[in-house]
Amino acid sequence: MSDLFASSEAASSPSEPARFGATSLDSHSFDTSSFASLETELSFADVDPGEGQRWSTWPTITPSERGPEPWPAWVVTSAGALDTERGILKTGKEADVFLLERAVPGDPTQHTLLAAKRYRSAEHRSFHRSSVYTEGRSTRNTRDARALAKKSEHGRAVAAAQWSFAEFEALCRMWERGAPVPYPVQVNGTEVLMEFLGDADGTAAPRLAQARGDRAELQELYTQVVDLMRIFAAAGFAHGDLSAYNLLVHDGRVRVIDLPQIVDIIANPQGLDLLHRDCVNICDWFARRRVECDAEELFAEMLAASYT
Ligand SMILES: Nc1ncnc2c1ncn2[C@@H]1O[C@H](COP(=O)(O)OP(=O)(O)OP(=O)(O)O)[C@@H](O)[C@H]1O
Ligand SMILES: [Mg+2]
Repeated sequence: MSDLFASSEAASSPSEPARFGATSLDSHSFDTSSFASLETELSFADVDPGEGQRWSTWPTITPSERGPEPWPAWVVTSAGALDTERGILKTGKEADVFLLERAVPGDPTQHTLLAAKRYRSAEHRSFHRSSVYTEGRSTRNTRDARALAKKSEHGRAVAAAQWSFAEFEALCRMWERGAPVPYPVQVNGTEVLMEFLGDADGTAAPRLAQARGDRAELQELYTQVVDLMRIFAAAGFAHGDLSAYNLLVHDGRVRVIDLPQIVDIIANPQGLDLLHRDCVNICDWFARRRVECDAEELFAEMLAASYT
């Protein structure tokens, strides 16, 4: 399927160049306070993180903020691993996605590439997700709830972290259901670390929007999209923002990303509308490429899946 895509577009459109190799760090990349607890465990404390590096945050993450077990074999859990920034994959409206390498220096068997999605606090966002997605969601911590209501600095940080936790939880839930989502490695404040979908050289998998296949190839991709939508629906959810931009194609397999807004089809008053919108978005895109599909039939099929 490699000829499905114009290779020069692999990671992004021309207006959003992938900058692999750049070491762009923002202020929330490092939490030096968490390193102190590691010092005693490290027998190799002579390795210091360099510019664009930090100690792996994995050892300091509480178990509930790590991905579902069993952890895939490629997940690097060593306290001796370093996280190294490898550049920006994409700056988005609410979050920036970075390429991160997590590796134990000198041990080629403990090396992995991750996508680090970092949510921005409200004042740095150019887009605010509609509250239709969050209806019915509650905040367990009352201090956080008060801060949210007052829109204090802490409140803004809580709001950004709510999106990262929402995305992490959604990824975990859908991963456990067998949906083709990137494996969620961990969540830490406003940062979600997940499986990087792309090549070993750091080239990200292209979006479906960039697919240039013949009708039969696109028909096959459509079948895969319907299959993953069915897994969401059977779990009672709609993606809520499904489009050819939130679907990546890696090695001929469609993977779905950008999940923080998944909606409960029944419990959310807008659930059916959002499911319907997902169906229309997908069918419009494929129908324009002469793939046979009908949004209303797809919607009916998803509804049926959600009731079984
Ligand atoms: N796990 C991943 N592996 C490879 N690339 C990824 C991964 N997650 C995100 N990306 C890249 O980053 C882009 C933005 O990711 P995502 O859609 O989750 O963020 P977003 O902030 O919602 O962006 P947008 O506003 O463009 O929708 C994706 O289109 C994709 O190119
Ligand atoms: Mg997106």
